[in-house]
Formats: sequence, C-alpha cells, structure tokens
Amino acid sequence: MQFSQIDMEMSAVDEKQYPTKHLPEIVLSGRSNVGKSSLINTLLSRKSIARTSSTPGKTQTLNFYNIASKLYFVDVPGYGYAKVSKKQREQFGKIIETYLQTRSEMKGVMLLVDARHTPTEDDFNMYNYLKYYEIDTLVVATKVDKIKRNQRDKQARLIMDKLQLEPEDNLIFFSSETGEGHDDVWQWIQTQSGV
Ligand code: GTP
Ligand code: MG
Repeated sequence: MQFSQIDMEMSAVDEKQYPTKHLPEIVLSGRSNVGKSSLINTLLSRKSIARTSSTPGKTQTLNFYNIASKLYFVDVPGYGYAKVSKKQREQFGKIIETYLQTRSEMKGVMLLVDARHTPTEDDFNMYNYLKYYEIDTLVVATKVDKIKRNQRDKQARLIMDKLQLEPEDNLIFFSSETGEGHDDVWQWIQTQSGV
C-alpha cells in the first residue's frame, strides 16, 4: 500500500497530548530493538519515517504517525531494555497502560517478537496483559530473514507455546529486509481499522 501523505504528527507522554482527530489507531509494541520502527517504515515503503536505531531504547514516547489522515500508527517505547533505569521503565509502563486502557480510537496491537528467539518473560507479560483487557492482538515475528526456512516451524511452535497464544490470534513472520509478511500485516490492519 502506498500513501502520499505521512507525518510523524506528535510525540505524547500523557493523555492531553494525544491527537484530537478521531482516526483509528494501531499500536506497535515489543521489546527494544525488535524492529518496531523498521516495521512502520517497511509498511509505508519509506526508508526513515520512523527513526530506527541500533541503540535500543531510543523511542521513549508514544509516537503517532498520521497515515494519509486515515489512521495512526502508534510506536510505543520498547520494553525490556536493561540499561534503562527502573524508574524510566516504570514511567514507560504507565504511559503505555494509560493509553491502552483509555483510548477508544485504539483498534488493535501488534506485538512484535524476535523470530530467532524464545519470547521473553516481558513478551509473555505483555501478551497476557493484552488478552486480559481483551485487546485484539497480532503477533508479528520479526527478522525472519535471519533464520533458515527449515527452522520456521520450530520457531513458530516455540513462540506460540511460550506466549500461550490463543486460537483467535495469528502469528505472522515478518522481515523489514525482504518485505515478507507485508501484505498479511496490512490485511490485519485494514480489518481492524476499517480503512
Ligand atoms: P526501539 O525503538 O529501541 O524500541 O527499537 P525498535 O523496536 O524500533 O527497533 P528498530 O526498528 O530501530 O530496529 C532495531 C535494529 O534491528 C536495527 O538495526 C534494524 O536495522 C534491525 N532490524 C529491524 N527489523 C529487521 C529485520 O526484519 N531484519 C533484519 N535483518 N534486521 C532488522
Ligand atoms: Mg523504535
């Protein structure tokens, strides 16, 4: 999908700073460095709308990307980065929770996990949290270009087992390098947002 008009509209830490246009919002969440910003760039066929970084913990606010005035992508602070202080981590946690619990525009969350690894305790807790609040969730396993084809089934099972994925939630393999998974992810976004 191509959009001519994409803006990084605003960074927000609290509710007063959320956008006031009533557009559907799709959230990207996951550990630091898992590839949230890269996924946004890939979905939008842009090199660097969302700032990517090899330094984890770069994104520290809710970043709203206005997509052609049709929807927002909301890039949230990555969790589970050890070098971030406990206090900062608690602050991030609060920012995300407030948003997820109050935001009626929020139409679903993409939870990104690394296709190469067993999901962490943080990933499991996040997934659990989303399910507890009955938030529609898509699990996206990123960086699939880094695993061999014959490892995929095993990795898929590992991820599904560790997260205790519910039957209604899908798992999509994704790569911002090759574009794999691009269409499936867009399909889910369109279904969720009605765009
Ligand atoms: P924070 O903002 O710190 O939470 O990180 P993030 O989740 O936004 O990760 P980001 O998109 O900045 O990517 C982190 C690193 O992983 C960068 O060096 C990316 O180039 C790399 N990366 C992201 N996605 C992929 C992928 O699909 N394949 C490969 N090979 N590398 C990727
Ligand atoms: Mg980021």
